[in-house]
Amino acid sequence: MAVIGIMSAMHEELAAVLAAMPDEQRVRVAGRDFWVGHWHGHDVVAVLSRIGKVAAATTATVLLERFKVDALVFTGAAGGLAPHAQVGDVVVATGLVQHDMDASPLFPRYEVPLYGRARFDTDPALSEALAAAASQVLSDPAQHLGAQAIADFHLLSPRVHQGLIVSGDRFVSTTAESQALQRSLPDALAVEMEGAAVAQVCLDYGVPFAAVRTISDRADDDAHTDFNRFIREVASRYSLAILSQWLMHR
Ligand code: ADE
Repeated sequence: MAVIGIMSAMHEELAAVLAAMPDEQRVRVAGRDFWVGHWHGHDVVAVLSRIGKVAAATTATVLLERFKVDALVFTGAAGGLAPHAQVGDVVVATGLVQHDMDASPLFPRYEVPLYGRARFDTDPALSEALAAAASQVLSDPAQHLGAQAIADFHLLSPRVHQGLIVSGDRFVSTTAESQALQRSLPDALAVEMEGAAVAQVCLDYGVPFAAVRTISDRADDDAHTDFNRFIREVASRYSLAILSQWLMHR
């Protein structure tokens, strides 16, 4: 049976996934706790991604080499860049770019040297299935979130977007930087700190990859506001519900 790797960006998300797995066993590798078990009848290995491109790439490599996962799904939060990527929306990546990769003038801006590309595509079938699960979950936020969170974060009609996510080793928290990213990468829907690196590792191993991110902030001067509460009360609940919905129907 196929083994599914789940990389969660946040502790709260991983805790929710582990609470849903009936039988997980901890295996410690490279200073990380990998949780091996089952969820909705699937073989699953769940792990905290850690933060930043290198840490996440190491976590992904162990999942692929040691645990032989056949598919890898990343869940977490992201800052919205495109005007329509609003707080509480979910972005399912169709492709990812490292926005801080710049080996120019030796290689074009954003291109990863020796890969001949800047953009790393996600697996279309996996991404479609996760987008369908996300649409199902977001069609009724009240089933997954508390009434106070829905009111405070204005989550009445959240939407699912599919498109480009950009990754870099920066928490983008100024309007100036967010606007600069939008100008130089106009297709980017959202920004985070790991996805493009994990996509690159998955390409190296020929393993299907997908990334699902809940927009937690607008990557602007207010990006830090209520971040932790949003992760706890919204993003981690969406991740759990989307993964659960996806695995139940897989
Ligand atoms: N993850 C969530 N919000 C983010 C932001 N503004 N920048 C980078 N990563 C993020």
